[in-house]
Amino acid sequence: MAKKQISIIHGPNLNLLGQREPEVYGKTSLAEINELIQGEANKLNVTLDIFQSNSEAEIVNHIHQLKADFMIINPAAFTHTSVAIRDAVAGIKMPFIEVHISNVFARETFRKESFFSDIAVAVISGLGAEGYLAALRFAAK
Ligand code: DQA
Repeated sequence: MAKKQISIIHGPNLNLLGQREPEVYGKTSLAEINELIQGEANKLNVTLDIFQSNSEAEIVNHIHQLKADFMIINPAAFTHTSVAIRDAVAGIKMPFIEVHISNVFARETFRKESFFSDIAVAVISGLGAEGYLAALRFAAK
């Protein structure tokens, strides 16, 4: 059987993980998180592609050309603002899990609103890098 293909998308400012507000997002860099995800993917025998962008248009264009079985997306600040990325995700009809490193429900009011949660398979918020690994284990099934 062909290996499952799983797409990971990291939204804006996540390239600064490790330096950015470590009291909120921890000290693990995006490169380290991607290594953890890749290690888990190897164990699960799935194929990964990983993408990060600070640009809404780039994320929309990336989503349009995806060929995968499942998507794991942390839309970061675009979670709370982007109808365009929501429409792209809805348009390709790929099942996805929305991941947040921090617990967005324990933060500012504007972070409690998401343009993605109602169309996601699940939302994981507040588990740090572990959230991506839990999402990946589900996606691999
Ligand atoms: C985030 C939470 C968002 O509210 C924020 O804008 C981010 C990161 C998280 O992973 O906790 O940039 O998605």
